[in-house]
Amino acid sequence: MIKADGLAAGKGVTVCVSPSEAAAAIAGIDGPLVVEQRLVGPEASVIAICDGRIAVVLPLSRDHKRLGDGDAGPNTGGMGAVSPLSDLPDDMAGELLNRFHLPILRELAGRGTPFRGALFAGLMLTRDGPRLLEFNARFGDPETQAILPRLAVPLGPVLLAAARGALSGLARLPTLPGAAVAIVLASAGYPGRPTTGDRIDGVAEALTGAALVFHAASRAVDGGWETAGGRVLAVVGRGADLATARDAAEAAADRISWPGMQRRHDIGASPPVAAGAAR
Ligand code: GLY
Repeated sequence: MIKADGLAAGKGVTVCVSPSEAAAAIAGIDGPLVVEQRLVGPEASVIAICDGRIAVVLPLSRDHKRLGDGDAGPNTGGMGAVSPLSDLPDDMAGELLNRFHLPILRELAGRGTPFRGALFAGLMLTRDGPRLLEFNARFGDPETQAILPRLAVPLGPVLLAAARGALSGLARLPTLPGAAVAIVLASAGYPGRPTTGDRIDGVAEALTGAALVFHAASRAVDGGWETAGGRVLAVVGRGADLATARDAAEAAADRISWPGMQRRHDIGASPPVAAGAAR
C-alpha cells in the first residue's frame, strides 16, 4: 500500500498488486509517503462520540471507496455506505469501542490532551480479526448519512454532553429497527477534475417518505440546484432491511440526474461486495 503522508481527500492511497505498480505510485506522490502491508478483507467504520474520558459508539457502517460497481476504478472519498452490516452486527460495537477507541482516549487524556469529538476508526475485518487501519478525528462521509437516520435518540444532546465532558455510561446509542443505504452522486470527472455548474434535476422528486437527500457539493440557483464539486449529493434509502433500504435508495437516486453524473448501482447489494477488498 502506497499512501501520501498527509490529507489527500481520500484519494492519496494506491492499492498495488505488483512492484511496478508500487514504483509508479511512489513516483506520483510529491512529498513524504507511507508504505504499509496490504491487508485483505471487508472494511468497517466505527465512529464514537468522545467526551475526553469515555465514549458512546454509533451504529456500524461501511463505505464503498472505489468509483465503480464491483469495486472497480480509482479510490474516492466514498461512493456509498450501508448500515447495519451483515457481517458485523451492531452489538459488536461496544467490544470494538473497548478495543480500539478507549485505549487511545486513555492515552490522550494521560498526555494532558483529552479528545472530545467524533473519533472514527477505519477497520479491516481480516481473517485474523479486525485490524485498525486509521483514525480520523471527524465523522465519516458518506457513513454518517447512513448512520444518523438509524438513531433512535436525537444526536444534539449527545454532542452537548460530549462537549461538556459529561457523557453517561451508555456504550452504544439506541437504534431504530431497519437499515439505511446511502448512494453518492458525483460529478463528471470526479475524482480527478470534477466539472461544476451543471443543473441538477429531480431532487424534489427523489424526496419520498423513505428517502433523504443530503447536499454536499451543490449550490442553490434560480430556485433549483447545480453541481459545485465532486461528491454532490448523497441519497439515503431506509427500509426494514438492507434490501428494502437499497431499493428505496436506488429508486430515489434514479430520479436525480445531470450531465455526466456518476454513481454506483451496487451499494448494499447482496451478497455484499468486497468493499475495500484490500487496503
Ligand atoms: N468515508 C471515509 C471517510 O470519511 O474518511
